[in-house]
Amino acid sequence: MKIWHSYLIYTSVALLTGGTESIQVEEPPGLKVFENGTVNDIVLDCPFVLEEGDSAGLVIKWFHLTNPVAVYQWIPSGSAPQATGILEGRVDLEYQVSQDNYHRHRALRILQPTTELTGQYTCSISSFNDEKLYKQNLIIYSEPQEVKVWTEQRDEQEVTVVCEVNHVFPQPRLYLLQVSPAAESVVLSDGKKVITQSQGTYNLLMERTMSDHDLAGATVFQCVVTIPDTQVQVIAATKYHPTKTGGSAAHSAVSVVAGIALLVLWRV
Ligand SMILES: *[C@@H]1O[C@H](CO)[C@@H](O)[C@H](O)[C@H]1NC(C)=O
Repeated sequence: MKIWHSYLIYTSVALLTGGTESIQVEEPPGLKVFENGTVNDIVLDCPFVLEEGDSAGLVIKWFHLTNPVAVYQWIPSGSAPQATGILEGRVDLEYQVSQDNYHRHRALRILQPTTELTGQYTCSISSFNDEKLYKQNLIIYSEPQEVKVWTEQRDEQEVTVVCEVNHVFPQPRLYLLQVSPAAESVVLSDGKKVITQSQGTYNLLMERTMSDHDLAGATVFQCVVTIPDTQVQVIAATKYHPTKTGGSAAHSAVSVVAGIALLVLWRV
């Protein structure tokens, strides 16, 4: 009913003013990336510009993911900021991003952000005349503790490359590479992948079997783990010596290479 009501008002105002919009959002969507447990607070702003005198009925709301219930609400002319749901008790309700009466509490200052607060936040700025949305993607990631890659000989003349990574958030990408001395590295597709979740993080196990005949001598296999939208990349490698006919058993090795994990802080 309320939505219909605002729609009617919106429509009539649009007709009267020839469709003039009174709220402007000019900034591109935001992306903020932080490592879990490394910052005390982050600010997600909701930048907008109001046309002169067009602040009647102004309401600022923030939504998380597709949840239709706001996680934060502030009505400049009426009620103090409130945080609910996933943000209850996690936001500094006193925070002022601006001294302006219509902008003062538009931003979220999230305290001690942790992985479960990851996701897209949408700010809705609505007045009697207009409504605009602004999106901020927040990623609080947790790096893999270690990435392990090794080979197993489960059948003659065959090798299975296994890669395991635990305790990562959000869900990482993982792929196996065959590094040949004389050619370009090849991504080993069609691997078998198992993804499980525990304590709010992801564990991945990937394996791919190859025939010794397809390998030209000693071969290095790499397992590459990345977290989308972050600079996190961890690579581990192992070396495999194919069995020669009548030769000795294949050598299997586990090696863990120190990860290259780059943390980039986007402009707050
Ligand atoms: C994130 O950090 C918090 C606090 O530092 C910690 O309790 C939590 O276990 C961490 N989560 C992950 C997934 O590492």
